[in-house]
Amino acid sequence: MEKLEQLYEGKAKKVYRTSDDALYIVEYKDDATAFNGLKKGTIAGKGIINNKMSNMLMQILEKHGIPTHFVEEISDRETVVKKVKIVPLEVIIRNVSAGSFAKNYGVEEGIVFEEPTIEFSYKNDDLGDPLINSYHVIALKLAKKEEIDTIKKYAFKVNEVLKEYFKKMNIDLIDFKLEFGWLPDGTIVLADEISPDTCRFWDSTTKEKLDKDRFRRDLGGVEDAYQEVMRRLLGE
Ligand code: TMP
Repeated sequence: MEKLEQLYEGKAKKVYRTSDDALYIVEYKDDATAFNGLKKGTIAGKGIINNKMSNMLMQILEKHGIPTHFVEEISDRETVVKKVKIVPLEVIIRNVSAGSFAKNYGVEEGIVFEEPTIEFSYKNDDLGDPLINSYHVIALKLAKKEEIDTIKKYAFKVNEVLKEYFKKMNIDLIDFKLEFGWLPDGTIVLADEISPDTCRFWDSTTKEKLDKDRFRRDLGGVEDAYQEVMRRLLGE
């Protein structure tokens, strides 16, 4: 399989066509943005960490019955994935109040929920990824009712698996964002990435932030935080 022309460049990744019509190659960059691209920077080594971490987590999720786009890691920054059409939704699961939840509803960060919440944002940079509910998803023809049900089921399952997994590393999984895609036959699989860019990780003991909030909020120690999560994942 050969890497062919670049199809797309996103904020954190590039996607390439390959000689196999069913496969793409994604390449992880060190570029970081926040607030819909308003804040820009680089996090040295982030692409390598996110590539490896996302692939490890996707393989764990596959073992728990969640279908993903993952095929094979081919270098530090590159992974072969199944070709999907991305469902234009950001699917956000929260276990603890933080970020936009705390801001929108006027509560402090760190309130542990009795049950996880789910929300959808319409993936549309021009509109600023507005929050929408499942009725809006159907009205906008972004996905079908059954597909939304499948996405919800997978998203909560991902949460159960990852929450337990990170707990063993003394990390609280506060919230995270998932994206799903359609395979050519219409099957829905987990796509995009799972990394400190897309999750909030807090040290269970100190509650120290070990994720992209260090970049978003200028907290310093950004690279160290990404490395620390990776180190714990690798059991070092
Ligand atoms: P929020 O609290 O800002 O809505 O973020 C919720 C989760 O989603 C958090 O873990 C960070 C992640 N996220 C992304 O992956 N991409 C985004 O563009 C945003 C805004 C959040």
